[in-house]
Amino acid sequence: MPSDLIVRLTAPNGRQYDQPTGLFINNEWVASSDGGKITSINPSNEQDIIAVHAATTQDVDLAVRAAHQALRHPSWASLAASDRGKLLYRLAQLVDDHRETLATIETWDNGKPYSASLGEDMVEVSETLRYYAGFADKNFGQVIETTADKFAYTVREPVGVCGQIIPWNYPLAMAAWKLGPALACGNTVVLKPAEQTPLSILFFANLVAEAGFPAGVVNIVNGLGSVAGAALAEHPLVAKIAFTGSTATARAIMRSASGTLKNMTLETGGKSPLVVFDDADVELAAEWAHAGIMSNQGQICTATSRVLVQRGVYDAFLEAFKARVRDISRVGDPFDEATFQGPQVTRAQMERVLAYVDVGVKEGATLEMGGRERLVVGGQQKGFYVQPAVFTNVTPQMRVFQEEVFGPFVVLAAFESEDEVVALANDSQYGLGSAVFTRDLTRAHRVARRIEAGMVWINSSNDSDWRVPFGGVKQSGIGRELGEAGLAAYSTIKAIHVNMRSKL
Ligand code: NAI
Ligand code: MG
Repeated sequence: MPSDLIVRLTAPNGRQYDQPTGLFINNEWVASSDGGKITSINPSNEQDIIAVHAATTQDVDLAVRAAHQALRHPSWASLAASDRGKLLYRLAQLVDDHRETLATIETWDNGKPYSASLGEDMVEVSETLRYYAGFADKNFGQVIETTADKFAYTVREPVGVCGQIIPWNYPLAMAAWKLGPALACGNTVVLKPAEQTPLSILFFANLVAEAGFPAGVVNIVNGLGSVAGAALAEHPLVAKIAFTGSTATARAIMRSASGTLKNMTLETGGKSPLVVFDDADVELAAEWAHAGIMSNQGQICTATSRVLVQRGVYDAFLEAFKARVRDISRVGDPFDEATFQGPQVTRAQMERVLAYVDVGVKEGATLEMGGRERLVVGGQQKGFYVQPAVFTNVTPQMRVFQEEVFGPFVVLAAFESEDEVVALANDSQYGLGSAVFTRDLTRAHRVARRIEAGMVWINSSNDSDWRVPFGGVKQSGIGRELGEAGLAAYSTIKAIHVNMRSKL
């Protein structure tokens, strides 16, 4: 193996580990066919971490063929479902065993606080794998009685080779959401990480091999979206694409995949409303509203980025919310335990947030908090840090009310009546998450039904649990991940008709 395919690194927190830098195909590390690489950057100081091989169209083809062969190979195709589950259990355990290293890599590459990487993301990764491990042998068909002479039964079969395209905001967790159900159902996978954050999933790839998955079942090819991602979406041997990312890229993927009519699950953008009624617990609402938009540097598709507050509690809520932002949103080094908000993942994302602050100001909204300049942390001029931005006096016509910013950026508007706020909440091309704060039980459930969204949080925000279906309506996506519902996307139903009569 060329020595640059595994490199010993020392992370900023002093942890040493072996970082794979190649393409993981057939349980082996290979270089990209043209030697092309993409450099991973530490967003907290803009220094290079390491250059990682980037797949060409030809490399993607190699990975897809490996996955296609593995699909039929007896070591996978004839493996008992319970044994598939055992492989997933073993992988989950390996993730737990290596969680400090995985969390370190995630924080180094992505900029999210280490406490979140370790205490949230890595827990989600192993628990999601474990949850789907349990489903491996509980995903079967039915017997359907028809007439006296005939009956039918159904079997659930894997969809085939699944192309999984991963975003940079939860690099390993989004991979686990997709790998768990795909592998439980007996598919094989070619996974493309986001080119900004490939390092944790490359380390994870070695754990896949160590767990005992046969060669070719899981292939991981880093690369540019426009090259490797597009090649996956177009490849005739790929049966399904699962994507998490922007709505614009989802449209491009649907177009590329239309040539071969691929199965598809899409989890895309959002501009999720959080509604606070007059009778709400205002402190509680402020706490969740803060967590719902400021966590993970605001880089969450379900972030409750539009806060709609009934007139009677508007002033009290705004004060409580601003106090939370002031006291809790400590921006700083993600390896520092006191840090709540690390840097944005890339320069592009930092600039996007700052540009939207300008847009909001130009549109006439009031910038209550936060700055139009990037934030200097610890005296060093480097790092993609921004101040959390809070806008008030925002109207539905404004771009900052309608467009996803994907950063620590929130807009507030006041409302008078329930009908008005339902209309405001639904005035969006998106329909991913939504939150309702009220002490009125009836209203809580009534409004939950009236909001156009895939998920509603009552007196909470951004709860996500591997046991509960996750996904959106409108332009927030197609299909569901997580929960039992997440299995539907990874198996097809074959109907087998049986005739017991000897003459026609
Ligand atoms: P993106 O949607 O372009 O990237 C997501 C993934 O898609 C990456 O792996 C990328 O390489 C891949 N990709 C890009 N172009 C592709 C193509 N033509 N064919 C196949 N795969 C392709 O997101 P980007 O540009 O990194 O971020 C821009 C905005 O997208 C963010 O500001 C945010 O609004 C949104 N976003 C939403 C996420 C979510 O969780 N829903 C996650 C990441 C970004
Ligand atoms: Mg990075």
